[in-house]
Amino acid sequence: MSKILITGGAGFIGSNFVRMLLLGSDHQLVNLDALTYAGNLENLADVERHPRYVFVRGDIADAAAMAKVFAEHRPEVVVHFAAESHVDRSVLDASAFVRTNLQGTQVLLDQSRAQQVRRFVHVSTDEVYGSLGAWGYFTEQTPIQPNSPYSASKAGSDLLVRAAVHTHHLDCVTTRCSNNYGPFQFPEKLIPLMIANALEGKKLPVYGDGKNVRDWIHVADHCEGIKKAMEHGAAGEVYNFGGDAERENLTVVKEILRLLGKGEDLIHYVKDRPGHDRRYAMDSSKARALLGWTPRHTFESGLRQTVEWYVANRAWWQRVRSGEYQAYYERLYGGR
Ligand code: NAD
Ligand code: DAU
Repeated sequence: MSKILITGGAGFIGSNFVRMLLLGSDHQLVNLDALTYAGNLENLADVERHPRYVFVRGDIADAAAMAKVFAEHRPEVVVHFAAESHVDRSVLDASAFVRTNLQGTQVLLDQSRAQQVRRFVHVSTDEVYGSLGAWGYFTEQTPIQPNSPYSASKAGSDLLVRAAVHTHHLDCVTTRCSNNYGPFQFPEKLIPLMIANALEGKKLPVYGDGKNVRDWIHVADHCEGIKKAMEHGAAGEVYNFGGDAERENLTVVKEILRLLGKGEDLIHYVKDRPGHDRRYAMDSSKARALLGWTPRHTFESGLRQTVEWYVANRAWWQRVRSGEYQAYYERLYGGR
């Protein structure tokens, strides 16, 4: 049993990870989250009273606050999810991305060193590798060539982690994963946005020609990979995770409409995302060989389950879509 500090545990992937560890391990968990627009404690309502779980509200970029959290809770392991995570928001304004993803990561690395944390797991993304053409895969050796302010801030955080390993000998493991989908994903991302819009009879905004390719992975498979990296990863190493499920955006959108019994007339082509990466595809053979990890969900069954979850949990995403989200949606899609 270890005491694990999980940052960003009220977000999409973090909340799935917290639940997985509470129900499937004996670790003690501290969930540290600032509760930005993307953080939602309702994601963990079913486990919030668990005896091995505590929630702390805090901003990872606030060094003084983090010193207090680390001194009080004395974590042995840190699993770092907290980030500004949406590419389109980073195009509108990158400042929160620089603060949280860069400054926040450095604050956590400094505290982990000061408090002699045994292992720091840094959750990163395939987007740090940039964009692929029609062929090939990202491996851990692919050069870092981020294209959006979001991916540049994540690439910067990966490099800060690398520096902490080489300069300060902090035991860090970095995971890089492809596009996640599943329960509790904020409906600004492609799959939940399309499901929610279709259920409300709204237009489905497809960027450009709809032929950009993403490699989709179920969030439970990603969480399993992070757990394996935390437990068995080698210090200083990077592990890629992908779902072996490359799909064009338009294919995904049409499949969602089919599952919901809705017509393709809801599809609405809009102006492309500036700097839009064309294709991501992950080579996860290192994680498969060295961590014994393999994704369990096929995209077809995972997407069907996800659509069913959003149909059954309409109240969750309708609450999430009120307030600040409405203003953002207008700002992003209003002119398109
Ligand atoms: P999310 O936006 O759903 O959740 C982010 C969480 O971080 C929220 O709970 C938010 O409140 C919290 N947070 C933001 N700023 C904070 C701050 N300054 N201090 C403390 N907490 C803060 O994101 P997600 O999709 O769950 O992604 C989690 C991590 O996984 C991110 O690091 C992201 O880069 C990475 N990742 C995401 C995907 C994906 O497809 N979603 C794929 C690969 C990697
Ligand atoms: O690859 C991992 C990354 O996946 C993570 O690091 C990011 O945190 C996560 O947000 C995600 O980034 P993407 O930009 O790939 O995801 P998004 O869901 O925003 O978009 C997926 C694809 O769908 C992309 O090609 C853009 C397109 N898209 C997206 C939206 C929101 C549309 O066509 N219309 C839309 O309205």
